[in-house]
Amino acid sequence: MERFSHLQTLTVRWSDTAIIITIARPKFLNALNKMVLEELDFVLNTLLKDGPSRFLVITGEGTKAFVAGADIGEMLNMTPQEALAFSRWGQEVFTKIETYPLAVVAAINGYALGGGCELAAACDIRIASKNARFGQPEVGLGIIPGFGGTQRLGQIVGKPRALDLVLSGRIIGAQEALRIGLVHKVVDEGKALEETLSYLESLSKNSLFAQIQTKRAMGVDEIRSPKEGRATESDFFSQCFGHKDQKEGMAAFLEKRPPKFDKGF
Ligand code: CAA
Repeated sequence: MERFSHLQTLTVRWSDTAIIITIARPKFLNALNKMVLEELDFVLNTLLKDGPSRFLVITGEGTKAFVAGADIGEMLNMTPQEALAFSRWGQEVFTKIETYPLAVVAAINGYALGGGCELAAACDIRIASKNARFGQPEVGLGIIPGFGGTQRLGQIVGKPRALDLVLSGRIIGAQEALRIGLVHKVVDEGKALEETLSYLESLSKNSLFAQIQTKRAMGVDEIRSPKEGRATESDFFSQCFGHKDQKEGMAAFLEKRPPKFDKGF
């Protein structure tokens, strides 16, 4: 569509039932930098202004990654103040996704890590291909999840499982994600988008109005205590950027070596 032809990090296209937003930074495994957040915000605001008439699909370009997290190169030298703004900004955009009036589905191929796992968690439904991989590896970078991960993941899989994933930073496959309820369906490799569209086709047979009312009744347009939870998350995320582990963790990633964190605090 004309209004979205200037976007540099996203593509937007229409199918009969859905608007498909594709995050397209394949060289960086679709990592979320400030421009992706700005462009996502622009697209969501434009769609909301129009009055949403179609479901939303969020996916990543290629089969290797949905989104491999927030952009580590961009975060490397952030001050705590900048990290606070980045975290709040990401949360604000993801909350617009969560509160979009109609169903939002993440079609996931490959890695959904850190901010990518948080983006998938902000969607209503997650359909993953067999090669999908999920995790919150932030602790290995000396930081914590900053785009809602400390809040939404626990709501989806339960606090003990979420804590296990966030404290260990381990990466799980699509079948384990299905078993713990993180994804709704696992499909053949390369078929996530196709299956998502056919799932949405099945939803479109029902009353859109009733679906909108359902989503509202389930409370996702009125964020209650999670709002406070996310504010706390932003504060703690920002504090990590005042600690040497964040510089070491991110520099190690970019230099392709294991991080050397001090033992103790
Ligand atoms: N940010 C910036 N660049 C990234 C990236 C990220 N999150 N993830 C991958 N890339 C880049 C790599 O630096 C690499 O670039 P070069 O080709 O220029 O070296 C390119 O994408 C391909 O990645 P790899 O060579 O690492 O690919 P791989 O197949 O060996 O490994 C991977 C894939 C396991 C996903 C690995 O890339 C990886 O671990 N990525 C980082 C994942 C991560 O830690 N995400 C959390 C980020 S922090 C966060 O998201 C905070 C928050 O909550 C807001």
